[in-house]
Amino acid sequence: MIISPSVLSMHYENFKEELDQLNQNADWIHFDVMDGHFVPNLTFGPDILKAFRRNSELFLDVHLMVSDPEFFTDVFAKAGADSIIFHYEAYQNLSKCEELIDRIHDKYLKAGISIKPGTDVKVIEPLLKKADIVLVMSVEPGFGGQAFMPEAYDRIRWLDGYRKENSLNYLIEVDGGVSDRNAHELLSCGTDSLVAGSFIFNGDISANIEKLRRCE
Ligand code: DX5
Ligand code: ZN
Repeated sequence: MIISPSVLSMHYENFKEELDQLNQNADWIHFDVMDGHFVPNLTFGPDILKAFRRNSELFLDVHLMVSDPEFFTDVFAKAGADSIIFHYEAYQNLSKCEELIDRIHDKYLKAGISIKPGTDVKVIEPLLKKADIVLVMSVEPGFGGQAFMPEAYDRIRWLDGYRKENSLNYLIEVDGGVSDRNAHELLSCGTDSLVAGSFIFNGDISANIEKLRRCE
């Protein structure tokens, strides 16, 4: 199991202390980039990612919720991302998605494709042989702290079945409303990586990560 805390919910006045806890307990760090256009919220630029890079050796998992993922790929690759995950809905065009996956691979980074709750998971089938990560959104992207949408289970089951049938090895990651109430079922459906923001940062970070680990 990979636990990828979403630092959208971090308390930035305690950056060092909270990051130390992530460094000791988490596997990845999930970094939500929002442009105020693809989603109605604005978050971090590359200098913030650089601050994480300087202070952590964890895998930096960059989730782009932006209308121009190509531009942001270049910016965040340079800032120290380990993965770049972009939304199918930013392009709604398979060849453009494939080109961007190639561009991410040319930078020796992991490439991920994400889908919003309303998008049929089967539309990304042609991309699955190239993707390293598939990120299933279990809330509408844009904000932390929303309620988990159980429709995600079926989409994860389909992705898990597809990779077994086709001997593929992309990782399945889930993002939105993840907690100790749904983690067990998510993992049994085939999820490899749990993104969690408010569940981890509200309260004792290390204890909350441990609670998720016990859900296996
Ligand atoms: C939502 C973001 C998520 C968010 C998850 O658009 O992609 O990563 O931070 O936060 P929680 O776990 O609070 O739903
Ligand atoms: Zn995210």
